[in-house]
Amino acid sequence: MLIKHFSILQISLLTLLNVNVITATTADTTISKTKVKMSDENKKFKILVTHPEVPQEGIDLLTRDCEVIICQNVPTVRAEILEKSKGVDALLWGGHDALNAEALDAAGPQLKAISTMSAGIDYVDVAEVKRRKIPLGHTPIVLNNAVADTAVGLLLAAARRFHEGRLKIETDKWEGGHLNWMLGQDVRDSVVGFFGFGGIAQTIAKRLSGFDIDSVLYTTRRRVSEDIEKEYNAKKVDFDTMLSQSDFVIIASPLTKETAGIFNATAFGKMKKTAVLVNIARGGIVNQQDLYEALKTNQIFAAGLDVMTPEPLPANDPLLSLPNLVLLPHLGSATQRTRADMAVIAAHNVLRGLAGEPMLSPAY
Ligand code: DGY
Repeated sequence: MLIKHFSILQISLLTLLNVNVITATTADTTISKTKVKMSDENKKFKILVTHPEVPQEGIDLLTRDCEVIICQNVPTVRAEILEKSKGVDALLWGGHDALNAEALDAAGPQLKAISTMSAGIDYVDVAEVKRRKIPLGHTPIVLNNAVADTAVGLLLAAARRFHEGRLKIETDKWEGGHLNWMLGQDVRDSVVGFFGFGGIAQTIAKRLSGFDIDSVLYTTRRRVSEDIEKEYNAKKVDFDTMLSQSDFVIIASPLTKETAGIFNATAFGKMKKTAVLVNIARGGIVNQQDLYEALKTNQIFAAGLDVMTPEPLPANDPLLSLPNLVLLPHLGSATQRTRADMAVIAAHNVLRGLAGEPMLSPAY
């Protein structure tokens, strides 16, 4: 059953990623016939996997033709990564440790390929990797469904006051007898605003269309295709319009210099008092102090965050005192199947990089 699932996964990943390779038999755990060989046929490429919990599905692919070294520490220890990366041909970067000049120097000039096991790569100095002409892969797309599910969960939980409701029970404040107690916001007929409208955002929009929303507004640098706009009844608008006209605002953009802290007091001041904010992207896009104030003073109705600053968030952080804030410890892509898919894509990125072929999902 597992093997069968894996084979279907392999084929669907390829379809998804629009990659043309020879698919394997059901008993084989490969999705590509890529053979990675050094010029000296007796030598094998060396790959460092920087996290011991990278799923076996990915490790199995790497060990077919390569020597694989796996870091042992959880959480990862930078000194171990730097030490073990010395002289390797490729890196499967399993955590969110800074992947910068220091790490690249530690590996050495023979480094030929890198893949992260994440969609977001804000912890990678992409310019530096590019400058050194090292192919870099990441793992978008395969996590769209899992992250979109999380976003919808947060949106409903925040809009319908799940966390606050639980607190009422815990503190013996369940007030029976009222008709207008603990009323929340409707998703039906709402305008949903997206900051960023890539694969994850569109997957969220697809799910929300089943909740009979009215329309989608989105703020991005580039307009998406007319077909996509039609499919989701979506319209590209500027940031202020998206903020002021949306009932729900969902952050689904990468963290960059331009997006860092853009959701600040000014932005919250432009949102509806009834608005609900959801962030499944990166904590750094939100000014957390300003969000705290906006929620505390009911300037906006509620928020749901899967990402925050720092991660892990200390248990005494003021955010945890807010009844109108639903918090998750960065669980967006945390399903077994999604993690395995991410490991498979990351492994193929690395193998393809070593073989001098285009990666399945190149990051630049
Ligand atoms: C990603 O892939 O960027 C998710 O946030 C999980 O790390």
